[in-house]
This record gives sequence, structure tokens and C-alpha cells, in this order.
Amino acid sequence: MPAFALPRFDGLSGRLLIMTISFVMLVEVLVYAPSVARFRLDWLEQRVQAAQLTVIALEAAPDAMVSTELANRLLDQVGAHAIVVPPTADTVRRGIFRDMPPAMDVAIDLRAPGFFPLIADAAGTLFHPDNRVLWVQGVAPELPGKRLDLLIDEAPLRQAMIAFSWRILGLSLLISFLTAALIFVTLRWMIVRPLREIAHSMIRFKGDPEDQSRAVPPSDRRDEIGLVRRELASMEETVRHALRQRARLAALGEAVTRINHDLRNILTTASLVSDRLAQSDSPEVRRVAPTLMAAIDRAVQLCQRTLDYVREDGPRLKRTRFPLVDLVGELDQVLAAPAGRSFTVRNLVPADVEMEADRDLVFRVLSNLGHNAVAAGAATLTVSAAEETERLVVTVLDDGPGLPPKALANLFQPFSGVGRAGGTGLGLAIARELMRAHGGDVVLAKTDAEGTAFRLVMPGNGTQARRAA
Ligand SMILES: Nc1ncnc2c1ncn2[C@@H]1O[C@H](COP(=O)(O)OP(=O)(O)OP(=O)(O)O)[C@@H](O)[C@H]1O
Ligand SMILES: [Mg+2]
Repeated sequence: MPAFALPRFDGLSGRLLIMTISFVMLVEVLVYAPSVARFRLDWLEQRVQAAQLTVIALEAAPDAMVSTELANRLLDQVGAHAIVVPPTADTVRRGIFRDMPPAMDVAIDLRAPGFFPLIADAAGTLFHPDNRVLWVQGVAPELPGKRLDLLIDEAPLRQAMIAFSWRILGLSLLISFLTAALIFVTLRWMIVRPLREIAHSMIRFKGDPEDQSRAVPPSDRRDEIGLVRRELASMEETVRHALRQRARLAALGEAVTRINHDLRNILTTASLVSDRLAQSDSPEVRRVAPTLMAAIDRAVQLCQRTLDYVREDGPRLKRTRFPLVDLVGELDQVLAAPAGRSFTVRNLVPADVEMEADRDLVFRVLSNLGHNAVAAGAATLTVSAAEETERLVVTVLDDGPGLPPKALANLFQPFSGVGRAGGTGLGLAIARELMRAHGGDVVLAKTDAEGTAFRLVMPGNGTQARRAA
């Protein structure tokens, strides 16, 4: 976009331009009323001063008398029908008059002008289209009584005020356009352009987030715009990183899937062959055969689990309601301690607690936690459950040695949290994924030398609502 393209009036810059012009005009209107009132006062005071000069000059004349012709010329000069000096204790009333002065319409006292009356009088003058005859009582410091009255027409005053108003309007327009233009250019340079650049860059980023060249250009501005740019750049970097990671994982997953597939076939063959080894004549071969078969079985299982994990794109839930106590009761069948050790499951789940979830998936979660406990060397696994408001909390506690630091640091991260020999590091990741698919979660409740507890949270179990009904 060219730097000085015409502003669009629905854009930020256009709106700013219109608003600035309107605000400056509004301020000008507020300033106009007092200034036109002031103009009117000055205009009238000038007339009074001119009249005062005339009176002083006349006092120098013999007998203070002038001819009618001179009087008229002097009155023309001041722009008045009559100039009157009111009497004082020592002087009599004096003045010059036209032959037939008109009757006055309004009396105006300039001696103690108030702010609001002045504005009201100015409005009166402006909005009174007919000529009125004003009786102006002014201040004349050079005269004995310090006072002087004038009888003048309002029309010339009104015309002068209208001319003044036009000048003010022109000036206001000029000021508002200049101010608006300056503010507009400044804001455009400081805010609108950077914002557009950011918006533009976001749109480009959306188009191809992995393209490094589309990142927000760095900025060393210290203000909010600079902050937005830096935060956006860092967010884009995070997203890009996550995408790269995802792409790598996807590629890895694909490779693993292919390798696994073939490996499983090879292992199946090996398993068939080792079956036959069990019937071998050699006692030595028969002795190692079961171990070999068990190892191959474990390898097949590992392949299968990895395949399942990579393939699984969010499990499909088959929700049912079932008594949790029964499900926990079945854990015994899949959890067995190695030879020489005992392992028991303590089922503390109340008989009336029901869970609403995919039974098989919850079983997988529980057996994953159970397998971990067995592998860690625990002797007892205690499963309890408590219904809370709109959720069911199941606690799985073992009396093993606690999580090793490496596992703790990468808990729930697939492949990276392995803390024991022979682990794949998938169990907890799968457990969390399955719980989250239900809208719930699995979290570590405690881990120390006395044991480890995980807490399963299943939301919206509806148990309480059902009971209340
Ligand atoms: N109850 C527990 N007691 C002690 N350590 C545990 C416990 N549960 C998990 N761990 C540690 O956390 C690590 C990660 O567990 P996870 O179940 O994710 O993977 P794994 O058991 O190593 O492999 P997999 O479950 O995929 O066969 C384990 O290797 C183990 O060191
Ligand atoms: Mg495990």
C-alpha cells in the first residue's frame, strides 16, 4: 500500500480526521460566543471614546457652541444621532444633537458589563434584523462626570459583527483543517500505519504460518505498539515452533507406523517359530523358550500400543452409566505383581457411585495408573471416589517410592517422561488424553517417598442431579 493513499472514511484514519475537525469546530463554537460579545463591547466603547474626544474639542470652542452643520459632521464622524454629557453637581447637561433625533429602542449600560449579559446582548444584536436605536451609557474618564451617553443606530454594529463572525468562521475552518491534518498525519504515522502493518503481517502469517519471512518485522519502539509487535512476533514464533514440532511428530509417527507394521509381522513369524521351540527335544531350548516368547509378546504389545497411540485421533466415546465399584474390581485381572511380590487393589469406591463415561477407556486409564504402580514396586493400590458438585473425583493412590525426578519434570509428555527401565513413557500421556476426551483430566495429587496419588476428574457426571430428581 502506498504511504499516502487517500484515507478511507470507514478506516481508523478517516474517522480520526472527521473527529478532529468536528472537535476543533466544537471548541471554536464555544469560543465564538464570548469573542463576538467582546467585539461588540469594543465597538461600542470605541464610539464612546470618539464621542469623548469630540466633547473635549468642543469645550475648547468659544461658548462651546457649534453650527448645526459642524454638529452634524461631528455626529457623522462618531456615527451617532446625539452625544449627551449628563449633568454633575457643578456642570449642566450638555451635548450635540441632530435636528430630529429618533426615539431610542434599547438602553445599553457599558459601565459594568457582565459576562453572560454581554453574550445575551450580542445574540440580541445578531438576531435582530431590524435597525434599533440604542441609548448607550458609556464611561468617559476625561470628562468631569466620567460619563457620556450616545444615541446610535444598531445596524452598523450588526454588520460589523456579521463581518467579524465570517472572519472567525474562516479562521476556525483553517485552524481545524490544519490541526486535523497535523493530528491525522501524526496518528497515521504513529498508530495507523504500524497497526496496518501488524494486521497485514497477521494476515500473511495466517496464509502460511511456517514461512519465517512472513514474521512481524522486529521493532525497537518502547510504546504499546512496540509491545504489541514484540508480543505478536513471539507468539508467531511459538506457533511456528509448535507447527514444526507437529510436523516432525507427524513424520515420526508415519515412520514409526511403517516400521511397526513390518516389525509386528516379523515378530509374529518369530512368535510362531518360538511356539515350535517349546516342543523341542533339547531341554535347554525348552527352558529358554517361555522367556523368549514372553519377550516377543512384550515386543508385539509395544508395537501395538505405539501404533494405537499414533493412529488414535481422539478416541470416539461410547458413554454409558456404570457402577464404578465394579470397574475397579476388574483391575485385579490385569494387574499382577512379578514373582516374589504381592500386589493388592483396595477398592474403596462406594457401591452407589456411578460414572457416566466410556467404560473401556476409563478402564484403560485406571489400568495404566495401576501398571505404573506395579512397575514402581508398590504393594497396594487404593482407589477411592467422591462425588462433588457436577463432577466425580477418583483418587488412585499407591504406596510406591514416588515419581523419579525425570518423570516428574516431563509428566504426561509422551515418550519423554520415562523414569524406569523398559517404560515407553506413553501410559500417563494416554491416560490424560482419554480423560480429556471426556472433558475431564488426570492430575498428580501427591508424590513422595510414601507413595504417589493421581486424581481423575470426570465432569458433569450428573449424579447429584439424578439424586435430587
Ligand atoms: N505410581 C508411580 N510411582 C512411581 N513412578 C511412577 C508412577 N507412575 C509413573 N511413574 C514414573 O513415570 C514415568 C512415566 O510413566 P508412563 O506411564 O507415562 O510411562 P511408562 O510407564 O514409563 O511407559 P508405558 O506406560 O508407556 O509402558 C514412568 O516411567 C515412571 O518412572
Ligand atoms: Mg506406564
